Amino acid sequence: MRNLLVTGGAGFIGSNFVHYMLAHHSDYRLVVYDKLTYAGNLDNLLALQDDPRYTFIHGDICDRAAVAATVADHDIDTIVNFAAQTHVDRSIMDPDAFIQTSVYGTYTLLEVARQFGLERYHQISTDEVYGHIPPGQSSKENDRVDPRSPYAASKASADLLVNAYHVTYGLPVTITRGSNNIGPYQYPEKALPLFATNAIDHLPLPVYGDGRQMREYQHVQDHCEAIDLVLQRGTIGEIYNVGTGVEVENLAMIAILLDVLDRPPSLIRHVTDRPGHDRRYSLDIHKITALGWEPGHTPEEAISEAAAWYRDNEWWWRKIKSGEFRRYYEAQYGERLRAGPHPGRSHPRSSRLVPRQRMVVAQDQERRVPPLL
Ligand code: NAD
Ligand code: DAU
Repeated sequence: MRNLLVTGGAGFIGSNFVHYMLAHHSDYRLVVYDKLTYAGNLDNLLALQDDPRYTFIHGDICDRAAVAATVADHDIDTIVNFAAQTHVDRSIMDPDAFIQTSVYGTYTLLEVARQFGLERYHQISTDEVYGHIPPGQSSKENDRVDPRSPYAASKASADLLVNAYHVTYGLPVTITRGSNNIGPYQYPEKALPLFATNAIDHLPLPVYGDGRQMREYQHVQDHCEAIDLVLQRGTIGEIYNVGTGVEVENLAMIAILLDVLDRPPSLIRHVTDRPGHDRRYSLDIHKITALGWEPGHTPEEAISEAAAWYRDNEWWWRKIKSGEFRRYYEAQYGERLRAGPHPGRSHPRSSRLVPRQRMVVAQDQERRVPPLL
Protein backbone atom coordinates (compact mmCIF):
# COMPACT_ATOMS: atom_id res chain seq x y z
CA MET A 1 0.00 0.00 0.00
CA ARG A 2 1.29 3.49 -0.89
CA ASN A 3 -0.10 6.58 0.78
CA LEU A 4 0.15 9.74 -1.29
CA LEU A 5 -0.54 13.27 -0.12
CA VAL A 6 -1.75 15.24 -3.14
CA THR A 7 -1.52 18.93 -2.30
CA GLY A 8 -3.64 21.12 -4.57
CA GLY A 9 -5.57 17.96 -5.52
CA ALA A 10 -8.91 19.77 -5.86
CA GLY A 11 -7.62 21.87 -8.77
CA PHE A 12 -7.51 21.01 -12.46
CA ILE A 13 -4.45 18.78 -12.88
CA GLY A 14 -4.41 17.57 -9.26
CA SER A 15 -7.96 16.22 -9.46
CA ASN A 16 -7.27 14.55 -12.81
CA PHE A 17 -4.19 13.00 -11.22
CA VAL A 18 -6.26 11.62 -8.32
CA HIS A 19 -8.77 10.10 -10.76
CA TYR A 20 -5.92 8.67 -12.81
CA MET A 21 -4.04 7.15 -9.87
CA LEU A 22 -7.08 5.55 -8.29
CA ALA A 23 -8.03 4.05 -11.65
CA HIS A 24 -4.54 2.64 -12.23
CA HIS A 25 -3.33 1.60 -8.77
CA SER A 26 -5.68 -0.46 -6.63
CA ASP A 27 -3.11 -0.50 -3.78
CA TYR A 28 -2.80 3.30 -3.41
CA ARG A 29 -4.55 5.58 -0.95
CA LEU A 30 -4.75 9.25 -1.87
CA VAL A 31 -5.20 12.08 0.58
CA VAL A 32 -6.10 15.37 -1.13
CA TYR A 33 -4.98 18.40 0.87
CA ASP A 34 -6.31 21.64 -0.57
CA LYS A 35 -7.06 25.18 0.56
CA LEU A 36 -10.00 25.43 -1.84
CA THR A 37 -9.05 28.79 -3.29
CA TYR A 38 -11.24 30.14 -6.12
CA ALA A 39 -9.62 27.45 -8.34
CA GLY A 40 -10.14 24.51 -5.97
CA ASN A 41 -13.42 22.72 -6.53
CA LEU A 42 -14.79 19.62 -4.83
CA ASP A 43 -17.03 19.01 -7.85
CA ASN A 44 -13.83 17.83 -9.57
CA LEU A 45 -13.66 14.95 -7.08
CA LEU A 46 -17.39 14.28 -6.74
CA ALA A 47 -17.23 10.94 -8.53
CA LEU A 48 -14.76 9.66 -5.90
CA GLN A 49 -16.67 10.51 -2.75
CA ASP A 50 -17.62 6.89 -2.05
CA ASP A 51 -14.16 5.48 -2.77
CA PRO A 52 -12.59 4.43 0.59
CA ARG A 53 -9.11 4.96 -0.90
CA TYR A 54 -9.74 8.72 -1.21
CA THR A 55 -9.78 11.29 1.63
CA PHE A 56 -10.14 15.06 1.46
CA ILE A 57 -8.53 17.45 3.97
CA HIS A 58 -9.18 21.19 3.83
CA GLY A 59 -5.91 22.98 4.57
CA ASP A 60 -3.20 25.41 3.50
CA ILE A 61 0.27 24.17 2.50
CA CYS A 62 1.71 27.18 4.36
CA ASP A 63 0.34 25.76 7.64
CA ARG A 64 3.16 23.50 8.74
CA ALA A 65 1.41 22.04 11.78
CA ALA A 66 -1.64 21.05 9.74
CA VAL A 67 0.49 19.48 6.98
CA ALA A 68 2.55 17.57 9.57
CA ALA A 69 -0.59 16.32 11.32
CA THR A 70 -2.00 15.10 7.99
CA VAL A 71 1.23 13.29 7.12
CA ALA A 72 1.28 11.61 10.54
CA ASP A 73 -2.44 10.73 10.64
CA HIS A 74 -2.44 9.13 7.20
CA ASP A 75 0.97 7.49 7.29
CA ILE A 76 1.99 9.40 4.17
CA ASP A 77 5.09 8.19 2.30
CA THR A 78 4.99 10.53 -0.73
CA ILE A 79 4.00 14.15 -1.32
CA VAL A 80 3.01 15.23 -4.82
CA ASN A 81 2.70 19.01 -4.79
CA PHE A 82 0.28 20.60 -7.27
CA ALA A 83 -0.73 23.46 -4.95
CA ALA A 84 -0.03 26.88 -6.42
CA GLN A 85 -1.63 30.00 -7.73
CA THR A 86 -1.51 29.22 -11.43
CA HIS A 87 -2.87 31.95 -13.70
CA VAL A 88 -0.27 34.23 -15.29
CA ASP A 89 -2.74 37.11 -15.76
CA ARG A 90 -3.70 37.07 -12.07
CA SER A 91 0.01 37.06 -11.14
CA ILE A 92 0.40 40.27 -13.12
CA MET A 93 -2.59 41.86 -11.33
CA ASP A 94 -1.58 40.73 -7.81
CA PRO A 95 1.55 38.58 -7.29
CA ASP A 96 1.33 38.26 -3.50
CA ALA A 97 -0.45 34.90 -3.16
CA PHE A 98 1.80 33.43 -5.88
CA ILE A 99 4.95 34.10 -3.90
CA GLN A 100 3.36 33.02 -0.62
CA THR A 101 2.07 29.69 -1.97
CA SER A 102 4.89 28.61 -4.24
CA VAL A 103 7.82 29.86 -2.18
CA TYR A 104 6.70 29.61 1.47
CA GLY A 105 4.26 26.76 0.82
CA THR A 106 6.83 24.64 -1.01
CA TYR A 107 9.36 25.32 1.75
CA THR A 108 6.81 24.17 4.34
CA LEU A 109 6.13 20.92 2.47
CA LEU A 110 9.86 20.26 2.08
CA GLU A 111 10.39 20.77 5.80
CA VAL A 112 7.60 18.31 6.63
CA ALA A 113 8.97 15.80 4.09
CA ARG A 114 12.36 16.08 5.78
CA GLN A 115 10.92 15.85 9.29
CA PHE A 116 9.09 12.58 8.49
CA GLY A 117 11.81 11.12 6.25
CA LEU A 118 9.34 10.62 3.38
CA GLU A 119 10.22 8.27 0.53
CA ARG A 120 9.56 10.92 -2.12
CA TYR A 121 8.74 14.57 -2.60
CA HIS A 122 7.55 15.32 -6.13
CA GLN A 123 7.14 18.90 -7.36
CA ILE A 124 4.81 19.80 -10.24
CA SER A 125 6.58 22.53 -12.17
CA THR A 126 6.09 24.18 -15.54
CA ASP A 127 7.79 24.94 -18.86
CA GLU A 128 7.29 28.63 -18.02
CA VAL A 129 10.36 28.55 -15.73
CA TYR A 130 12.58 28.53 -18.87
CA GLY A 131 11.01 31.77 -20.16
CA HIS A 132 10.46 32.64 -23.81
CA ILE A 133 12.36 30.27 -26.11
CA PRO A 134 13.59 31.66 -29.47
CA PRO A 135 12.63 29.78 -32.65
CA GLY A 136 14.82 26.77 -33.37
CA GLN A 137 15.62 26.07 -29.72
CA SER A 138 14.05 23.76 -27.12
CA SER A 139 14.55 23.73 -23.36
CA LYS A 140 16.51 20.92 -21.75
CA GLU A 141 16.13 20.13 -18.08
CA ASN A 142 19.55 21.50 -17.13
CA ASP A 143 19.06 24.81 -18.98
CA ARG A 144 19.08 27.83 -16.73
CA VAL A 145 15.74 29.13 -15.55
CA ASP A 146 14.74 32.54 -16.90
CA PRO A 147 11.18 33.18 -15.70
CA ARG A 148 9.51 36.36 -16.96
CA SER A 149 6.19 36.62 -15.08
CA PRO A 150 5.60 36.69 -11.31
CA TYR A 151 3.88 33.29 -11.71
CA ALA A 152 6.83 31.76 -13.54
CA ALA A 153 9.30 33.30 -11.07
CA SER A 154 7.37 31.84 -8.13
CA LYS A 155 7.47 28.38 -9.77
CA ALA A 156 11.19 28.65 -10.59
CA SER A 157 11.86 29.68 -6.98
CA ALA A 158 10.04 26.58 -5.77
CA ASP A 159 12.13 24.37 -8.08
CA LEU A 160 15.33 25.88 -6.69
CA LEU A 161 14.17 25.17 -3.14
CA VAL A 162 13.34 21.56 -4.03
CA ASN A 163 16.77 21.07 -5.56
CA ALA A 164 18.44 22.69 -2.53
CA TYR A 165 16.69 20.24 -0.18
CA HIS A 166 17.97 17.35 -2.26
CA VAL A 167 21.55 18.60 -2.37
CA THR A 168 21.74 19.79 1.23
CA TYR A 169 19.62 17.26 3.11
CA GLY A 170 19.52 14.33 0.69
CA LEU A 171 15.72 14.61 0.41
CA PRO A 172 14.54 12.18 -2.32
CA VAL A 173 12.95 14.62 -4.75
CA THR A 174 11.85 14.64 -8.38
CA ILE A 175 10.44 17.48 -10.48
CA THR A 176 8.31 17.42 -13.65
CA ARG A 177 7.99 20.52 -15.84
CA GLY A 178 4.82 20.28 -17.88
CA SER A 179 3.59 22.28 -20.86
CA ASN A 180 0.02 23.68 -21.15
CA ASN A 181 -2.49 21.09 -19.97
CA ILE A 182 -6.04 20.93 -21.30
CA GLY A 183 -8.98 18.69 -20.42
CA PRO A 184 -11.80 18.31 -17.90
CA TYR A 185 -12.15 20.53 -14.79
CA GLN A 186 -9.87 23.41 -15.91
CA TYR A 187 -10.96 26.68 -14.33
CA PRO A 188 -12.42 28.81 -17.15
CA GLU A 189 -9.90 31.65 -16.74
CA LYS A 190 -7.37 29.62 -18.78
CA ALA A 191 -7.39 30.02 -22.56
CA LEU A 192 -9.04 26.81 -23.75
CA PRO A 193 -11.93 26.60 -21.25
CA LEU A 194 -12.44 30.38 -21.49
CA PHE A 195 -12.65 30.26 -25.28
CA ALA A 196 -14.81 27.12 -25.30
CA THR A 197 -17.33 28.39 -22.76
CA ASN A 198 -17.46 31.86 -24.37
CA ALA A 199 -17.98 30.26 -27.80
CA ILE A 200 -20.80 28.08 -26.47
CA ASP A 201 -22.49 31.29 -25.27
CA HIS A 202 -21.75 33.17 -28.56
CA LEU A 203 -19.46 35.59 -26.66
CA PRO A 204 -16.24 37.08 -28.08
CA LEU A 205 -12.98 35.16 -27.64
CA PRO A 206 -10.40 37.69 -26.35
CA VAL A 207 -7.19 36.77 -28.19
CA TYR A 208 -4.07 38.52 -26.92
CA GLY A 209 -2.12 40.42 -29.58
CA ASP A 210 -1.82 38.61 -32.90
CA GLY A 211 -2.73 35.19 -31.40
CA ARG A 212 0.31 33.55 -32.91
CA GLN A 213 1.97 32.69 -29.63
CA MET A 214 2.90 29.02 -29.41
CA ARG A 215 2.14 26.52 -26.69
CA GLU A 216 2.50 22.74 -26.43
CA TYR A 217 -1.12 21.96 -25.58
CA GLN A 218 -1.21 18.50 -24.00
CA HIS A 219 -4.01 16.28 -22.70
CA VAL A 220 -4.05 16.38 -18.91
CA GLN A 221 -4.29 12.60 -18.77
CA ASP A 222 -0.98 12.27 -20.62
CA HIS A 223 0.64 14.59 -18.11
CA CYS A 224 -0.76 12.52 -15.21
CA GLU A 225 0.61 9.35 -16.78
CA ALA A 226 4.06 10.97 -17.02
CA ILE A 227 3.96 12.03 -13.36
CA ASP A 228 3.03 8.47 -12.36
CA LEU A 229 5.93 7.13 -14.42
CA VAL A 230 8.39 9.50 -12.76
CA LEU A 231 7.09 8.43 -9.35
CA GLN A 232 7.71 4.78 -10.30
CA ARG A 233 10.86 4.98 -12.39
CA GLY A 234 12.28 8.49 -12.20
CA THR A 235 15.80 9.04 -10.88
CA ILE A 236 15.98 10.82 -7.53
CA GLY A 237 17.22 14.41 -7.85
CA GLU A 238 16.22 14.68 -11.52
CA ILE A 239 13.94 17.01 -13.48
CA TYR A 240 11.78 15.72 -16.37
CA ASN A 241 10.17 17.89 -19.05
CA VAL A 242 6.67 16.72 -20.07
CA GLY A 243 5.41 18.12 -23.38
CA THR A 244 4.25 16.98 -26.79
CA GLY A 245 7.03 17.98 -29.16
CA VAL A 246 4.38 19.88 -31.18
CA GLU A 247 3.90 23.62 -30.88
CA VAL A 248 0.46 24.98 -31.62
CA GLU A 249 -0.35 28.60 -32.36
CA ASN A 250 -3.20 29.91 -30.24
CA LEU A 251 -5.25 30.76 -33.35
CA ALA A 252 -4.80 27.18 -34.58
CA MET A 253 -6.06 25.87 -31.24
CA ILE A 254 -9.09 28.17 -31.58
CA ALA A 255 -9.78 26.96 -35.14
CA ILE A 256 -10.12 23.37 -33.91
CA LEU A 257 -12.24 24.43 -30.95
CA LEU A 258 -14.64 26.48 -33.11
CA ASP A 259 -15.01 23.53 -35.50
CA VAL A 260 -15.94 21.19 -32.65
CA LEU A 261 -18.39 23.68 -31.16
CA ASP A 262 -19.79 24.72 -34.55
CA ARG A 263 -19.18 28.42 -33.97
CA PRO A 264 -17.94 31.06 -36.48
CA PRO A 265 -14.44 32.65 -36.55
CA SER A 266 -16.14 36.05 -36.25
CA LEU A 267 -16.23 35.43 -32.48
CA ILE A 268 -12.45 36.05 -32.37
CA ARG A 269 -11.56 39.46 -30.90
CA HIS A 270 -7.93 40.55 -30.87
CA VAL A 271 -7.33 42.53 -27.68
CA THR A 272 -4.35 44.25 -26.03
CA ASP A 273 -1.60 41.74 -25.31
CA ARG A 274 -0.60 40.37 -21.90
CA PRO A 275 2.40 42.36 -20.53
CA GLY A 276 5.64 40.39 -20.94
CA HIS A 277 3.78 37.67 -22.86
CA ASP A 278 6.12 34.74 -23.59
CA ARG A 279 5.72 34.07 -27.28
CA ARG A 280 6.98 30.54 -27.42
CA TYR A 281 7.74 27.63 -25.12
CA SER A 282 9.37 24.51 -26.45
CA LEU A 283 10.38 21.48 -24.43
CA ASP A 284 12.98 18.88 -25.28
CA ILE A 285 11.26 15.70 -24.06
CA HIS A 286 13.95 13.09 -24.75
CA LYS A 287 14.50 12.43 -21.06
CA ILE A 288 10.91 11.45 -20.27
CA THR A 289 10.49 9.47 -23.51
CA ALA A 290 13.67 7.54 -22.63
CA LEU A 291 11.89 6.58 -19.41
CA GLY A 292 9.13 4.98 -21.52
CA TRP A 293 6.50 7.72 -21.87
CA GLU A 294 4.83 8.99 -25.06
CA PRO A 295 1.94 11.44 -25.36
CA GLY A 296 -1.24 9.39 -25.80
CA HIS A 297 -3.07 12.12 -27.74
CA THR A 298 -2.17 14.33 -30.68
CA PRO A 299 -2.72 18.03 -29.94
CA GLU A 300 -5.73 17.99 -32.26
CA GLU A 301 -7.27 15.10 -30.29
CA ALA A 302 -6.51 16.80 -26.99
CA ILE A 303 -8.04 20.13 -28.11
CA SER A 304 -11.12 18.47 -29.65
CA GLU A 305 -11.76 16.29 -26.60
CA ALA A 306 -11.34 19.21 -24.24
CA ALA A 307 -13.70 21.46 -26.22
CA ALA A 308 -16.30 18.67 -26.34
CA TRP A 309 -16.03 18.16 -22.58
CA TYR A 310 -17.02 21.82 -21.93
CA ARG A 311 -19.85 21.46 -24.45
CA ASP A 312 -21.12 18.37 -22.61
CA ASN A 313 -20.54 19.50 -19.01
CA GLU A 314 -22.26 22.85 -18.54
CA TRP A 315 -23.26 21.69 -15.02
CA TRP A 316 -19.61 22.05 -14.07
CA TRP A 317 -18.68 25.48 -15.50
CA ARG A 318 -21.89 27.51 -15.47
CA LYS A 319 -21.90 27.90 -11.68
CA ILE A 320 -18.24 28.99 -11.73
CA LYS A 321 -18.82 31.58 -14.42
CA SER A 322 -21.74 33.09 -12.54
CA GLY A 323 -19.76 33.68 -9.32
CA GLU A 324 -16.49 35.50 -8.44
CA PHE A 325 -15.46 34.89 -12.01
CA ARG A 326 -17.65 37.76 -13.26
CA ARG A 327 -15.67 40.36 -11.27
CA TYR A 328 -12.42 38.88 -12.49
CA TYR A 329 -13.62 38.86 -16.11
CA GLU A 330 -14.64 42.52 -15.97
CA ALA A 331 -11.28 43.54 -14.42
CA GLN A 332 -9.28 41.48 -16.91
CA TYR A 333 -11.24 41.99 -20.13
CA GLY A 334 -13.88 44.72 -19.67
CA GLU A 335 -11.87 47.67 -20.99
CA ARG A 336 -9.94 45.60 -23.50
CA LEU A 337 -13.14 44.36 -25.12
CA ARG A 338 -14.88 47.76 -24.97
CA ALA A 339 -11.84 49.36 -26.67
CA GLY A 340 -12.81 47.59 -29.90
CA PRO A 341 -10.41 45.74 -32.18
CA HIS A 342 -6.81 45.87 -30.98
CA PRO A 343 -4.89 48.67 -32.83
CA GLY A 344 -3.01 47.31 -35.80
CA ARG A 345 -5.17 44.20 -36.00
CA SER A 346 -7.71 43.47 -38.62
CA HIS A 347 -11.39 43.69 -37.79
CA PRO A 348 -12.55 40.35 -36.36
CA ARG A 349 -14.71 39.69 -39.39
CA SER A 350 -11.65 39.73 -41.60
CA SER A 351 -9.39 37.86 -39.12
CA ARG A 352 -7.77 34.96 -40.84
CA LEU A 353 -7.50 31.72 -38.97
CA VAL A 354 -4.10 30.11 -39.10
CA PRO A 355 -4.67 26.93 -41.08
CA ARG A 356 -3.98 23.82 -39.07
CA GLN A 357 -1.10 22.92 -41.36
CA ARG A 358 0.68 25.89 -39.84
CA MET A 359 0.89 24.16 -36.51
CA VAL A 360 4.57 24.10 -35.96
CA VAL A 361 6.31 20.79 -35.54
CA ALA A 362 9.21 21.05 -33.12
CA GLN A 363 12.77 20.95 -34.40
CA ASP A 364 13.32 17.41 -33.29
CA GLN A 365 12.81 15.33 -36.42
CA GLU A 366 12.58 12.03 -34.54
CA ARG A 367 9.50 13.27 -32.76
CA ARG A 368 7.86 14.66 -35.87
CA VAL A 369 4.12 14.25 -35.66
CA PRO A 370 2.10 13.86 -38.87
CA PRO A 371 0.21 16.88 -40.23
CA LEU A 372 -2.87 17.53 -38.23
CA LEU A 373 -5.44 17.59 -40.99
P1 NAD B 1 -5.34 25.07 -10.45
O1 NAD B 1 -5.27 26.54 -10.24
O2 NAD B 1 -6.48 24.49 -11.20
O3 NAD B 1 -5.32 24.33 -9.02
C1 NAD B 1 -4.48 24.72 -7.98
C2 NAD B 1 -4.99 24.06 -6.71
O4 NAD B 1 -4.13 24.41 -5.63
C3 NAD B 1 -6.41 24.52 -6.31
O5 NAD B 1 -7.19 23.41 -5.96
C4 NAD B 1 -6.16 25.40 -5.11
O6 NAD B 1 -7.24 25.43 -4.20
C5 NAD B 1 -4.93 24.75 -4.52
N1 NAD B 1 -4.14 25.68 -3.66
C6 NAD B 1 -3.72 26.93 -3.97
N2 NAD B 1 -3.06 27.46 -2.94
C7 NAD B 1 -3.04 26.51 -1.96
C8 NAD B 1 -2.48 26.45 -0.66
N3 NAD B 1 -1.84 27.50 -0.15
N4 NAD B 1 -2.63 25.33 0.05
C9 NAD B 1 -3.32 24.26 -0.46
N5 NAD B 1 -3.87 24.26 -1.68
C10 NAD B 1 -3.73 25.37 -2.43
O7 NAD B 1 -3.96 24.68 -11.08
P2 NAD B 1 -3.54 23.55 -12.15
O8 NAD B 1 -3.67 24.12 -13.49
O9 NAD B 1 -4.21 22.31 -11.79
O10 NAD B 1 -1.99 23.43 -11.81
C11 NAD B 1 -1.52 22.52 -10.83
C12 NAD B 1 -0.02 22.59 -10.77
O11 NAD B 1 0.53 22.28 -12.03
C13 NAD B 1 0.52 23.98 -10.41
O12 NAD B 1 1.62 23.81 -9.57
C14 NAD B 1 0.94 24.56 -11.75
O13 NAD B 1 1.98 25.50 -11.59
C15 NAD B 1 1.39 23.31 -12.48
N6 NAD B 1 1.31 23.34 -13.94
C16 NAD B 1 0.13 23.68 -14.55
C17 NAD B 1 0.03 23.60 -15.94
C18 NAD B 1 -1.25 23.94 -16.65
O14 NAD B 1 -1.26 23.99 -17.87
N7 NAD B 1 -2.36 24.15 -15.97
C19 NAD B 1 1.13 23.18 -16.69
C20 NAD B 1 2.32 22.85 -16.03
C21 NAD B 1 2.38 22.91 -14.66
O1 DAU C 1 2.94 26.40 -19.92
C1 DAU C 1 2.41 25.88 -18.73
C2 DAU C 1 1.53 26.94 -18.11
O2 DAU C 1 0.37 27.00 -18.93
C3 DAU C 1 1.15 26.66 -16.67
O3 DAU C 1 2.30 26.68 -15.89
C4 DAU C 1 0.16 27.73 -16.17
O4 DAU C 1 -0.28 27.42 -14.87
C5 DAU C 1 -1.02 27.76 -17.11
O5 DAU C 1 -1.88 28.81 -16.73
C6 DAU C 1 -0.56 27.96 -18.55
O6 DAU C 1 -0.02 29.29 -18.75
P1 DAU C 1 -0.32 30.12 -20.10
O7 DAU C 1 -0.17 31.54 -19.80
O8 DAU C 1 0.43 29.56 -21.25
O9 DAU C 1 -1.87 29.68 -20.29
P2 DAU C 1 -3.18 30.49 -20.57
O10 DAU C 1 -4.26 29.49 -20.70
O11 DAU C 1 -3.39 31.63 -19.65
O12 DAU C 1 -2.87 31.10 -22.02
C7 DAU C 1 -2.54 30.26 -23.12
C8 DAU C 1 -2.20 31.17 -24.29
O13 DAU C 1 -3.41 31.87 -24.68
C9 DAU C 1 -1.19 32.24 -23.97
O14 DAU C 1 -0.39 32.49 -25.12
C10 DAU C 1 -2.03 33.47 -23.66
C11 DAU C 1 -3.23 33.28 -24.59
N1 DAU C 1 -4.48 33.85 -24.07
C12 DAU C 1 -4.88 33.51 -22.82
C13 DAU C 1 -6.06 34.01 -22.30
C14 DAU C 1 -6.50 33.64 -20.89
C15 DAU C 1 -5.24 34.70 -24.86
O15 DAU C 1 -4.89 35.00 -26.02
N2 DAU C 1 -6.40 35.21 -24.35
C16 DAU C 1 -6.84 34.91 -23.08
O16 DAU C 1 -7.91 35.42 -22.68
